[in-house]
Amino acid sequence: MHPPRRATPRRYLMCPPVHFDVTYSINPWMDPAKPVDVPLAVAQWEDLRDRYLSLGHTVDVLAPRPGLPDMVFAANGATVVDGRVLGARFAFPQREGEAAAHLAWFRSRGFAEVREPVHVNEGEGDFAVTASYVLAGRGFRASPLSHGEAQEFFGLPVVGLDLVDPRHYHLDTALAVLDDAADEIMYYPPAFSPGSREVLRRLFPDALTASGDDAAAFGLNAVSDGLHVLLPQSATGLYDPLRARGFEPVGIDLSELLKGGGSVKCCTQELRP
Ligand code: ARG
Repeated sequence: MHPPRRATPRRYLMCPPVHFDVTYSINPWMDPAKPVDVPLAVAQWEDLRDRYLSLGHTVDVLAPRPGLPDMVFAANGATVVDGRVLGARFAFPQREGEAAAHLAWFRSRGFAEVREPVHVNEGEGDFAVTASYVLAGRGFRASPLSHGEAQEFFGLPVVGLDLVDPRHYHLDTALAVLDDAADEIMYYPPAFSPGSREVLRRLFPDALTASGDDAAAFGLNAVSDGLHVLLPQSATGLYDPLRARGFEPVGIDLSELLKGGGSVKCCTQELRP
């Protein structure tokens, strides 16, 4: 049996995709030859934002900047735990400018502890926060050295996990936190090295594991408030297993943003008080 589920109010940072485009390819999902429908991307993004608002959450909006077509993926700009902000340092030059935009936003909003990192980390793309740990992906984007930096900054145990499949280049494409008051996650085992899979099995023996189809539909790129799990609507195989655990899956259509290699979680940075 699962524990009783309860939603707790969240604060999210999002950035509208008004300058969204696929002009370069830094992950296998991005094909610059495929046109992007910006008005559709904006409408889908607004739908996600409105879902959060209707569930009682707060959404802060980061002003989009021209020339930064991936800025809609706001999860990558920082990691915030206990009000402490660890900024990002992007792996590819095309996204470099986003880091400063996030830092400036946090500083202007009165966050007291804002750290510009030394080592490459792409925010919550590779950092996932559970009750006991910061799970940290590496292999494609975050430098392994960023794990020690995060552990020192947050004072939380950081568990490094090796990503091995380029389609799951960020941890948040292969693993989602379902209950951050406990240690409940779902993930896609084949995205991880054998040793990391074993670590996940040891730490999270009851985790929900996703099928290849649901992982390919970005079903692990999900956001949970403890009860509602917002995830790409085409990851249908996850709905029943989530319900069986007492969660309420909420399918979201972000098909345009998938052209950039991101979905629900990528668009959502959580500001943990
Ligand atoms: N095009 C972006 C990139 O490759 C997508 C980022 C998706 N964000 C995420 N949190 N996984 O960097």
